[in-house]
Amino acid sequence: MFVIAIDGPSGSGKSTVAKAVATRLGLAYLDTGAMYRAVAFAAMRRGIDPEDRDTVAELARQIDLKVEDQVLVDGADATIEIRSPEVTRAVSIVAANPEVRVELVTRQREWAEAHGGGVVEGRDIGSVVFPAAALKVYLTAADGERANRRSKEMLDLNYDQVAADMARRDHIDSTRAASPLSVAKDAIRLDTTGRPIEEIIDDVLDLAAQAAQATRAARAGGADDTNPEV
Ligand code: DC
Repeated sequence: MFVIAIDGPSGSGKSTVAKAVATRLGLAYLDTGAMYRAVAFAAMRRGIDPEDRDTVAELARQIDLKVEDQVLVDGADATIEIRSPEVTRAVSIVAANPEVRVELVTRQREWAEAHGGGVVEGRDIGSVVFPAAALKVYLTAADGERANRRSKEMLDLNYDQVAADMARRDHIDSTRAASPLSVAKDAIRLDTTGRPIEEIIDDVLDLAAQAAQATRAARAGGADDTNPEV
């Protein structure tokens, strides 16, 4: 299984980079943030308080989730709704729920098994979900630039609202008890501030080529170890 983990805070460019790298390498792509958003959306739809831990955890275990180009929650298309400002505000609470994390991490690992690996983006992919990933990239960008990028995507919110929401969310994501946002020790950090995204994609593709070679070499070495007589 060949997994490329791409982590980083919102607005760091990770979705653009992860999607492009998956397409260029012909690998499957999974947006794990969309899974947390889908659970937050499903809770709000059912009138469940995102703070009600047990009920939200039970919901996470029960719902049918399909996260591909479209996001389907119990068969209904929620691709647009999961990006709404309301869901964006509630999702950090849902993502801080340890039982929700256990469930979604299990589903993420099952997804990778079923697809023989892929490019997986999130916050804890290299540190928790796939600690043995072939390549771990952690993207960063200056706070002002991250808010700027996000406010261009969120047409109904202005820069100040986006920057304030983002700071609040970053704080919850990085201080929560369950898998706080952290950089895996062996992750390669890339700062995307002021750099064209194409350049970052090329950097990650170069790193992926090196990782693939290292994986092949390790497999060949492993085969020799298990068959010392060969
Ligand atoms: O990347 P995003 O903005 O769509 O993520 C939505 C939320 O989910 C955000 O608060 C961080 C959280 N998240 C997480 O805790 N772990 C992940 N693997 C992915 C996202």
